[in-house]
Amino acid sequence: MTESQTMGVFGAGWVGLVTGGCFAELGHHVIVRDVVPDRIAALQAGRLPFHEPDLPEVLARNHERIRYTLDAGELVDADALFVCVQTPPTYSGDADLSFVWSALDDLPRGERRQILVMKSTVPVGTGEKVRAALEARGLTNVGYVSNPEFLAEGTAVRDFMNPDRIVIGAADPQDAAFVEALYSGIETPIVQTDVASAEMIKLAANAFLSTRISFINEIANVCELVGADVESVAQGVGLDHRLGPHFFRAGVGWGGSCFGKDVSALKQLAGNSGYHFQLLAAVIEVNELQKRRVIAKLEKHLGKLRGKTIAVLGLAFKPNTDDLRDAPSLVISSRLLAEGAAVRTWDPVADARERLRGATQCDTVLDAVRDADAAVIVTEWDELRGLASEEVRAAMARPLIIDGRNLLDPGAARRAGFAYEGVGRQSSAFETLPETAEPEERVSS
Ligand code: UDX
Repeated sequence: MTESQTMGVFGAGWVGLVTGGCFAELGHHVIVRDVVPDRIAALQAGRLPFHEPDLPEVLARNHERIRYTLDAGELVDADALFVCVQTPPTYSGDADLSFVWSALDDLPRGERRQILVMKSTVPVGTGEKVRAALEARGLTNVGYVSNPEFLAEGTAVRDFMNPDRIVIGAADPQDAAFVEALYSGIETPIVQTDVASAEMIKLAANAFLSTRISFINEIANVCELVGADVESVAQGVGLDHRLGPHFFRAGVGWGGSCFGKDVSALKQLAGNSGYHFQLLAAVIEVNELQKRRVIAKLEKHLGKLRGKTIAVLGLAFKPNTDDLRDAPSLVISSRLLAEGAAVRTWDPVADARERLRGATQCDTVLDAVRDADAAVIVTEWDELRGLASEEVRAAMARPLIIDGRNLLDPGAARRAGFAYEGVGRQSSAFETLPETAEPEERVSS
């Protein structure tokens, strides 16, 4: 049985609300503090500022144990203070810790022992700096623990309640034991270590996941050249128990708020410490080029893209989220617009109208593909599984599908009359396109 504690959470963002909601679910009392009045007002009125499955239910179910406030002073009686603020990249690729330092500035001054728990992803060495800052402020009653999050968007509640591991980095074993006890009720291995190693575990985990994806994307690109199929290759390689099947799907590249930021932060951290992390430089470059390969594939089938209409299907960086941060769709759409194509986008939840001025965001897939010269699957939403239909074929000017996520069965798409090109798979011959005007003629019309 969990001993109920009171915890403060700095930051009512995605990590803060998932952390706060899930700790309330475990029986704790939670006070979530943010500096944005609109956000706190919305949460108090029961509105969530973003889309995350299961989170609205968790927050509603535990509303009696969760309070939202602008006033950091209300956290004075909390036993633990979780820092869940954003750490975006700066221009140099370092992590911007200004929100972390603001949270420290706002720490309530009390007598009782409080444990400051860092959930935000921070460079290795931050813990040392925070401890020094706490001492400089005379906050000797505050202990420090690093407890990184491993939450993926779309499955964050499940990831919190059923984690692969919980990492706790602390200088003081009592502080570590206290944080471990907060998670009682969750069965999982606990990795107890020092603060610097805990910080590194988070960065290394995300860097390795990104590396796996860039690796399989490069294998896919070679498969296209030599006549192999990356889906079979990934399956055959991934069945090796030393390698495993996860994060091995080829596609248009990784995105999201964490991978790009954390890979850059680790590369920069190494550089700042005098080490050139060559592998990560390549991982990042491979990912940038991967997004752009879609343009070359379209040109291969359509010639110059000026004047062509391209449907970009899926905008969120992955399904089950409305998050557009670092989304490959933004790079692909922007490149298409720069080539002079008309871009029609669709996504069931993400709204890119602000970021993709010049593109037309459509409400339905059918609307997006109408009169299009090609449809590009960028996000593997379930709604797109039936894309190779007669209805879609009839609506398009040219039945060409560029499947950036290998979502469709290539054979079925071809039998349905589409020219099809996936990632790391053999493309259908250009001749399978029905007779239409030559690309260049259409341009001039
Ligand atoms: C990630 C980590 O998974 C999580 O542990 C960490 O704490 C935050 O960053 P998230 O950014 O939500 O989570 O997304 P994730 O599911 O990891 O996917 C990241 C990107 O990789 C997506 O763009 C996804 O489409 C892409 N991806 C993932 C692939 O291209 N291939 C794969 O096999 C897996």
